[in-house]
Amino acid sequence: MKIAIMGAMREEIDPILETVGNYTTIEHAGNVFYECTYGGHELVIAYSKIGKVFSAITASVMIERFHAEKLLFSGVAGGISKDLKIGDLVMASALCQHDVDITAFGHPFGFIPEGSVMIEADKSLLAIASKVAADLSVKVKEGIIATGDQFVASAERKAWIEATFKADALEMEGASVACVCHNFNVPFFVLRAISDTADGDAGMDFDTFLKSSAKVSAKFILTMVEHLGD
Ligand code: ADE
Repeated sequence: MKIAIMGAMREEIDPILETVGNYTTIEHAGNVFYECTYGGHELVIAYSKIGKVFSAITASVMIERFHAEKLLFSGVAGGISKDLKIGDLVMASALCQHDVDITAFGHPFGFIPEGSVMIEADKSLLAIASKVAADLSVKVKEGIIATGDQFVASAERKAWIEATFKADALEMEGASVACVCHNFNVPFFVLRAISDTADGDAGMDFDTFLKSSAKVSAKFILTMVEHLGD
């Protein structure tokens, strides 16, 4: 099976490239894609650059040009839930765009006509992740991830996102990737390790913990690949 693994930043895919070892490099649509085999599967790996637009382009290219049949996202997030400490893993049951606002027309926050506020992740990938977590004795919280084109470093904004979307974590790419995969009918999974708690110290914590948390997420994603069937 052809599996796409994407991150947003170089730091999020570097640990994956280091583990898979041999890969070929293809430049396309302003980005670099890495192809290799791992765990009996063909992989295409890339980082998109930060935000909803670049991540949507990369996910689309992985599906249309590289024919990915499943897409796994690995990276870091700001924690909202009290259960989530720096380095903890969260997998999205559903994702939403916290920065979409056409409430002036009577719609709820996060809603785009002909769409839905939440996009659900693939249930069988979530089940495989739960099994891998149990096998490895690793805790992975399942919850809602809110995405927006903002680095959130404010207790007020974080509280608003939690109250409005019941979100457990926030980041800047998951919901746009979910939207692409949903439209192309490609099963997807979004995993994030917490790098900060999206409040006043978020910028400093992010810089301190980006690499270590990205590694935690990358390691889990590759173990999942080893457990994916044909
Ligand atoms: N990714 C990791 N931490 C984040 C934050 N605080 N805001 C947005 N995206 C993030």
